[in-house]
Amino acid sequence: MGISPKIGSKGIEDTCEPHFPSHGRAAQFAVQLALLLIPALAFTGCNRSVSEIPVGPAVTIKVPLGLPPVPIPANNPPTEATIALGRKLFYDVRLSQDNSVACASCHSPQLAFTDGLARSRGVRGMTGVRNAPTIVNTAYLPLQFWDGRALSLEEQAASPITDPVEMNQTHEVSVSKLGADPVYQAMFQRAFGSEGVTFGRVQKALASFERTVLSGNSAFDRYRYGGDEGALTPAQVRGLALFIDPHKGNCAACHTIGPEYALFTDGKFHNTGEGAGDAGMFTDVGRFHKTKIEADKGSFKTPTLRNIANTAPYMHDGGLKTLKDVVDFYAGGGNSNPYLDKEIRSVALSGQDRADLVEFLKSLTGEMPPNVGPPGKG
Ligand code: HEC
Ligand code: HEC
Repeated sequence: MGISPKIGSKGIEDTCEPHFPSHGRAAQFAVQLALLLIPALAFTGCNRSVSEIPVGPAVTIKVPLGLPPVPIPANNPPTEATIALGRKLFYDVRLSQDNSVACASCHSPQLAFTDGLARSRGVRGMTGVRNAPTIVNTAYLPLQFWDGRALSLEEQAASPITDPVEMNQTHEVSVSKLGADPVYQAMFQRAFGSEGVTFGRVQKALASFERTVLSGNSAFDRYRYGGDEGALTPAQVRGLALFIDPHKGNCAACHTIGPEYALFTDGKFHNTGEGAGDAGMFTDVGRFHKTKIEADKGSFKTPTLRNIANTAPYMHDGGLKTLKDVVDFYAGGGNSNPYLDKEIRSVALSGQDRADLVEFLKSLTGEMPPNVGPPGKG
């Protein structure tokens, strides 16, 4: 499966471009104003004289059974060198203020790229407000984060580094720490064809690495797309039927299964009532945070269910501990609140049905590609 710029060219920003309204005098004025503010751009680690376009032949990211081609942005074709650089960065604690936290601290390959905590812990043991989602197959998602506030993996990558409760380090400091290391100097040069560590390059390399973290070829995939009828147990086959049946589990209404591949997410935002308090009061307003649309209160992005048996606890707040808890939650119709999604309603599922659904969810544990764990020294 090849690079497919058609699907993937949206939502990518050139991190060196300040964003202004693109019409008329107001825009001109904004540009002049920006020139006065140019020192502020240094904050982003952006360096206009340094190209942030990868050089060298783009590689084809191999896709396992059950997944579509990976969407690739036009300005960041993955190369061997950017992927290797991104991998090293992903596991590097130097991206955090006190050199204690790497991306992989919260997205650990041992836990299907999550952290096993209800809510993540960053530098100095600071606790965040949300559960760390997996980065597996996140390359397919049109929007990143539970509330979809980042439009691309490139944009997303900047955020945890400066987040005060995650890595808490300015882009300037990240750039100077990495730039002092001759190994990185050589890797950035190889990846982008000229000397220099810039934050834009860091973002692109991280995103390219993440695009290789794909998991498919699970028992479910072999059954559904590989013609292997024996791949699922009888309980899992019953669970799959319940998962799809609109009058039973109705799970596939949001956790999508397609004719040729399955992402187990529609990439959209829904209110299941998780985290809803009395009278629809939300401690976390979710999608509303970004859109300010009242009906989006308490909506969160549908997460993938691949490798779900390895990513407890569940939901945006880590509020449900086991898969059984999740299935019971849905059978009970979620948590009632004014914005509850119409696809969520209480349904009579027997103890056997619930156990079958849980068994089915276990069939979604897939293979991980090689070369996504911590890189060797150097
Ligand atoms: C302290 C823990 C922590 C660290 C460190 C961390 N993350 Fe995350 N990550 C999270 C949490 C929590 C979220 C969800 C936050 C939200 O939705 O508001 C998240 C979300 C994401 C997402 C979005 C996934 C999705 O399905 O929407 C990606 C991609 C990601 N992180 C990649 C990274 C990268 C790359 C790094 C390193 C530069 C990193 N993370 C560092 C905890 C962490
Ligand atoms: C209306 C859309 C919708 C339907 C229907 C739906 N889900 Fe979900 N699912 C979501 C959303 C949105 C979340 C995240 C909610 C949150 O964290 O607040 C989620 C979260 C989950 C999680 C936790 C994932 C994680 O990484 O934490 C599991 C497991 C899950 N759903 C399984 C199911 C099953 C099983 C069914 C059917 C019984 C189902 N879902 C039906 C939208 C849906």
